[in-house]
Amino acid sequence: MANQKGGVGKTTTTVTLGGLLAQQGKRVLLVDTDPQASLSYYFGIDSEELSSSVYDVFKAAQTLDKDKVLDCLCPTKLDSLFILPASMALATLDRTMGAQGGMGLILKKAFALVENEFDYVLIDCPPVLGVLMVNAVAACERLLVPVQTEFLALKGLQRMMHTLEIMAKTQKREFQHLIIPTMYDKRVNAAADAYKVLCEDYKGQVWSGVIPVDTRFRDASQRQSPPSVFCPKARGVFAYQTLLKQLQTTIRTI
Ligand SMILES: Nc1ncnc2c1ncn2[C@@H]1O[C@H](COP(=O)(O)OP(=O)(O)O)[C@@H](O)[C@H]1O
Ligand SMILES: [Mg+2]
Repeated sequence: MANQKGGVGKTTTTVTLGGLLAQQGKRVLLVDTDPQASLSYYFGIDSEELSSSVYDVFKAAQTLDKDKVLDCLCPTKLDSLFILPASMALATLDRTMGAQGGMGLILKKAFALVENEFDYVLIDCPPVLGVLMVNAVAACERLLVPVQTEFLALKGLQRMMHTLEIMAKTQKREFQHLIIPTMYDKRVNAAADAYKVLCEDYKGQVWSGVIPVDTRFRDASQRQSPPSVFCPKARGVFAYQTLLKQLQTTIRTI
């Protein structure tokens, strides 16, 4: 889940899709690469009290093995849902490691080590372009780009898509990406206008549905449960279920 703009629904998309997948019985790993650690807090994990986090994966990059990666994971209330939490120390990565070569593939290598343990790995990105986002994008098979259906968010999307183009060039690969319109408020004309512009500007790259604005998402985050557990009948959860179904039927790798 990537977008350089904050507050567009990256973390909500990660936790909701993760919850739905775990309820299908899939073994799911959620990865928090945002130093603000919203995803970790979502599951009641206080990142400052942790003995290990995704930061330790970066620190041990040269000597990483399967057990070291597994040691950094935390369980959640759902049996098959695990999280690789973030910590504030992540914010220092760009300064301390940003200039070193070969830093961009650490997460990809770490996930390869635990690939047999999980059916899905969902990575929640920070809203900044740096070592963490580069690692997340390089590690993923498919990118979901949540974007709020409002004009300011569309400006932010331009920046994100430009970043993707540059990364595709340097990594010599195409990124399969899907733009997910979020927080869509059908009562607001500006939302409908922004949605129209989004579909015109990014033809063929926008999911055919929308995630509606739904206050239940905020309630779920307070309860530290994935929305699909806390409010399974919410219309927002239903929309994510539709999205997941489409992703699972159209993509072999998912
Ligand atoms: N569809 C939605 N309807 C209403 N509120 C939402 C929706 N999606 C996310 N939110 C809320 O908006 C805020 C920002 O969402 P979040 O997923 O944290 O964005 P990001 O990770 O991109 O910064 C959170 O408080 C979240 O609960
Ligand atoms: Mg977030």
